[in-house]
Amino acid sequence: MKFVNSFKDKMKSYNGEHKLKYYIDTMGCQMNENDSLKYAGILESMGFEKGEEDNSNLYLFNTCCVRENAENTLFGRLGMLKKRKMNNEEVYIAIVGCMTQQEHILEKIKTSYRFVDVVLGTSCMSLFPEKLYNAIVNSKKKIEYIDVSNALEEEVPIKYEDKYKASVSIIYGCNNFCTYCIVPYVRGRERSRRPEDIVKDVKKLAQDGYKEIMLLGQNVNSYGNDFEEKYNFPMLLEELEKIDGIEIIRFMSPHPKDFKDDLIEVIKKSKKIARQIHLPLQSGNTEVLKRMNRKYTKEQFVELALKLKQISNISLSTDIIVGFPNETEEQFLDTLDVVKTVEFDQIYMFIYSKRNGTVAARMEDEVTYEEKVDRLERLKKLYEETLPALNAKMIGNTYKVLVEGKSKNNAELYTGRSSQNKVVIFEADDSYIGKVVDVKIDSEHLWYLKGTIVK
Ligand code: 5AD
Ligand code: SF4
Repeated sequence: MKFVNSFKDKMKSYNGEHKLKYYIDTMGCQMNENDSLKYAGILESMGFEKGEEDNSNLYLFNTCCVRENAENTLFGRLGMLKKRKMNNEEVYIAIVGCMTQQEHILEKIKTSYRFVDVVLGTSCMSLFPEKLYNAIVNSKKKIEYIDVSNALEEEVPIKYEDKYKASVSIIYGCNNFCTYCIVPYVRGRERSRRPEDIVKDVKKLAQDGYKEIMLLGQNVNSYGNDFEEKYNFPMLLEELEKIDGIEIIRFMSPHPKDFKDDLIEVIKKSKKIARQIHLPLQSGNTEVLKRMNRKYTKEQFVELALKLKQISNISLSTDIIVGFPNETEEQFLDTLDVVKTVEFDQIYMFIYSKRNGTVAARMEDEVTYEEKVDRLERLKKLYEETLPALNAKMIGNTYKVLVEGKSKNNAELYTGRSSQNKVVIFEADDSYIGKVVDVKIDSEHLWYLKGTIVK
């Protein structure tokens, strides 16, 4: 479906006189970040100008509901904006994204936050210009529930903030129904974008000078399962490898259960796929994994992780949830055991958060919150103890780094991320910005490495 909308132009002519400013507040994952870039693209095509948090007219909240705290953040921020509305300032509020797909949130907005102007669900961006035009110009409030539409919206304008790296969504939705996770309920079933649309986008990015792309999906290695013909994620990667100008290809997230040998072979052969793989573990205990509906065992995960680690220079990152309902101390120790065996370079750690509507929300849970926090602390400690030795292994070796700009903490040095996704700082000058260079690592400093450009 092409992104065409007559309200876009009507809003633009209104904006010609009013010069309204927008501010986007993004919560949650990289898919949401990518959607926000599209909302920015749409808003600019409607004549809005980018503003700041304290001087804008349109506030767009792109929400997340994966964990509970985002809800409190949203309602807190709405409260602040209400004051500005009461003072008769020209302020409009739009709420989009995952949270709006939940009945209880919608009810709460309808009863206690009636000053919100537009509420839209996921996968219906093409309706946004019309809803916004009606709210602003026709003064028609439109708070309504919009179900996940399964249409794929192509050719949506997108405004990247970075000049050299860009994210590209390749598959929307999720069919996995991990028992703790709300995503399948709010983002709908898996829908893969056509390979030719993705290739077109990436070629355009290469022409515009982008060097690095990040392919996004809730489960990227399900890519193509919904096509009639056989076309899968490894085949897409091989196609994208051929595009001149793109030097680094990343993707997230793959599901361990779908990480097959053909994908490993494509990664091994590739000169562009980053030497960094995000492999979400969630728990290291087979029984908990079963209750999470993850469809792999502790042993299968470790076997896969160690196989990936044989690819030279590879680094692994992961997601872990501690305190899943009734997770015992012994089961948690299995998670620590996997962390010790695999040695992840980066771990995103979460305390289990009960999400209404999911299967796990109905499970009994006798683990206290204090115990959960304690497990998180112990996991963090183990990770931070392992990291220096992992970083130290990189000293003396040379890695591919995309130079992003001046280092924020050290004005004389420049910074970038290595193919392994490690922050590296080094001496350079402005002419290096946007180039992929070889950097030899000299020292490690826990959260970053220092090095010297060799080429
Ligand atoms: N509680 C805690 N963490 C969660 N995640 C997803 N759902 C929940 C939940 N209910 C985490 C998972 C996932 C990451 C994006 O968020 O680790 O991989
Ligand atoms: Fe959620 Fe599992 Fe799907 Fe990831 S794979 S989005 S954790 S249901």
